[in-house]
Amino acid sequence: MNESDRIWDELDNIYTRWGISEIPFSESASTLGQSRIQEVFTGRTRELREVLNLFKGRERKRLLVYGWIGIGKTAFILEILSLLQRKAKDTLTAYISLPQDTDLATAALIALAREMEDDEWAQQQLNQMGLYPKNTLFKRKTKFKAGVSIMGGEMEEEVIAITKPKYPSLSFEDLLQRALQKYKRVVIAIDDLDKQDPARVRQLLLDAQGLLKGGAWFILSGHPFGLTRDILIVERGLFDLALKLEEMDQSTMYTMLVNYLNSARPQKSKRDRDDRYAVYPFTPETARMLCEKSGGVPRWLNRLGSYVLLKAAELKADVITPEILQQGFSYANQQVRGQLGLTSEDFILLDLVLEKGILSDENVSYEDLQRLKVQEFSEILPIIDKLMQRDLIRRLPSDRATEFAPTPFLLPPEENVDDAHNQKNDNNQIL
Ligand SMILES: Nc1ncnc2c1ncn2[C@@H]1O[C@H](COP(=O)(O)OP(=O)(O)OP(=O)(O)O)[C@@H](O)[C@H]1O
Ligand SMILES: [Mg+2]
Repeated sequence: MNESDRIWDELDNIYTRWGISEIPFSESASTLGQSRIQEVFTGRTRELREVLNLFKGRERKRLLVYGWIGIGKTAFILEILSLLQRKAKDTLTAYISLPQDTDLATAALIALAREMEDDEWAQQQLNQMGLYPKNTLFKRKTKFKAGVSIMGGEMEEEVIAITKPKYPSLSFEDLLQRALQKYKRVVIAIDDLDKQDPARVRQLLLDAQGLLKGGAWFILSGHPFGLTRDILIVERGLFDLALKLEEMDQSTMYTMLVNYLNSARPQKSKRDRDDRYAVYPFTPETARMLCEKSGGVPRWLNRLGSYVLLKAAELKADVITPEILQQGFSYANQQVRGQLGLTSEDFILLDLVLEKGILSDENVSYEDLQRLKVQEFSEILPIIDKLMQRDLIRRLPSDRATEFAPTPFLLPPEENVDDAHNQKNDNNQIL
């Protein structure tokens, strides 16, 4: 047997002993798939009730789901859509993560058209935008002709040049009317509004007022950071419900951990939350420590859980003891710091946050700003945003000031002497 076979079998062996077929965690809900989400989705009872209550009414609504990075916006939206698909047969649901440089009407048009597989006009719309329709289109007309070989065959096709819809709002309205002939209700979810800059989001929403007030239900989502307070407060009239997703409590996080582990166990070995082996290879104690460390943020539970299992597998540990857990946390610390694409400025800012514990526009000094080669706090916001996206720092829930702190992935310098030392040296060289 060669070396890689041996390592593979060894890993297989460990996972079998743990009773799971794979690492069940995932960083983003969009990669999980609907059936998995249904299996692992936990908590949010009050928020679900609030939203589902609206769906009992006839009048269409516009909902905004907002919350910090990794708090579970996508998971929440997908759970609602999946429930509607299962329970409300007269409802058509569509989901899209807002593509860069796309207005809301075009995004809504794409999302809806993708769900209307049997509608040739809808598929044609997709085709015209250069997006692959779900159903094969015949007789596509264009000035250009091209021979396209599909799966090695010799089929000849006429292709259409890529054009953006000229009147996306009108095209969407037309398509919506077609959908409403078949369905009583159409729900369009547009996720990740904030992955654009705040001024642009504001403009996008203003431009989409007509669309939002039209005949479809809308669920939009984003970070409060990107959405800006304006939209949330002054322009709240745009939304019938603005729902903020907050950090989850420890007990819910524990159930979430059980659900994830169960999702990788064979049917007959799925365990009840109160069974002490439900969290195996964690012990109830280390499972609680993991939940606590995750600070109520579902993505952090997923990422930390995954790093801990990887480390435990490497150490061939049968059980995750507190000692193994700490090694897993160290590994997580190394991994998030070692992410590709971090620049020297990013590390200077990261060090600053670690040094201060909390960095805010109130406690930042002139010297600090100089180290970062900027004049004002607002100039470092793009770096902060990047570090937040990468789970290195988090924003504290404070209305008073803009405060940032390290995430649980970063071990404090005293627990991480070598790293801190190296980092300092690097920075000195840069300065
Ligand atoms: N209520 C929940 N139950 C179970 N898992 C959840 C829940 N909420 C979130 N998760 C999981 O946590 C991870 C992060 O969640 P999600 O992708 O929904 O966050 P997000 O708020 O959309 O993040 P981003 O701001 O980056 O878009 C995913 O793996 C998701 O499946
Ligand atoms: Mg998301």
